[in-house]
Amino acid sequence: MSAPLLSVTGLSIAYGGVAAVAPLDFSVAPGESIAVLGANGAGKSSLLRGLMGLAPASGDIIFDGAPIATLATAKRARRGIAYVPEGRRVFAGMTVRENLDVAAHAGAPERQRRRDAAYALFPQLAARDGDGAWQLSGGQQQMLAIARAMMARPKLLLMDEPSLGLAPAVAQDVVDALAAIAADTTIVLAEQNANLALDIATRALVLDRGRLIFAGSSEEIRQQPEILSPAAAAASPP
Ligand SMILES: Nc1ncnc2c1ncn2[C@@H]1O[C@H](COP(=O)(O)OP(=O)(O)OP(=O)(O)O)[C@@H](O)[C@H]1O
Ligand SMILES: [Mg+2]
Repeated sequence: MSAPLLSVTGLSIAYGGVAAVAPLDFSVAPGESIAVLGANGAGKSSLLRGLMGLAPASGDIIFDGAPIATLATAKRARRGIAYVPEGRRVFAGMTVRENLDVAAHAGAPERQRRRDAAYALFPQLAARDGDGAWQLSGGQQQMLAIARAMMARPKLLLMDEPSLGLAPAVAQDVVDALAAIAADTTIVLAEQNANLALDIATRALVLDRGRLIFAGSSEEIRQQPEILSPAAAAASPP
């Protein structure tokens, strides 16, 4: 078995002494994609931010063979981790093309190759190449945020709630593109919408109020959806 791309040991996140994610362990193999599932406030975003160095975390994180838990966010990005936060953040005042180009950190020919690949993945963006990002729909802005992250050719994509606030058909388009990305990039995908996430991920972690309550295959969750709602399961008679 090959070494994991990402290996996390005793990672916890706390804001001012209040625990948001209790110490947890998991690892992700190269090429594998995993979902982080759970309700509002479960700690999904905190976990992704902790991996990226954007939330107060303790514990060990080994990425691509090296410890990164004490590295600043920019250094983690340079090692090959990209992060797409909740809320489709793009540079609203720039065009679609400019948004992509500033994220490439590569010479012009390579930049163009990557832009072409982004447009192949998201044809809707190709059609809006010269338009301001502020003119895009919510779904197109989400696509642009993902395309921007991929311009850096990351080894690991940390993706937070791509379906949030999108109409189901648009969310499905975004998920289809992520599934294509998952063919050659490792993804850690935080989602409240388990059905969409399990389309991409082969394994899942389920958080409940900051605690890891399940780690296993997507198949197990599909067969036992009550894994996702422990409170409801506990409240109802057997
Ligand atoms: N910057 C912060 N400062 C203090 N507490 C925070 C901060 N960010 C999150 N929290 C708290 O940490 C807990 C986990 O929040 P988090 O946003 O990680 O959950 P989530 O699973 O991403 O939820 P959602 O599905 O609503 O996005 C919550 O109790 C939240 O209030
Ligand atoms: Mg969140």
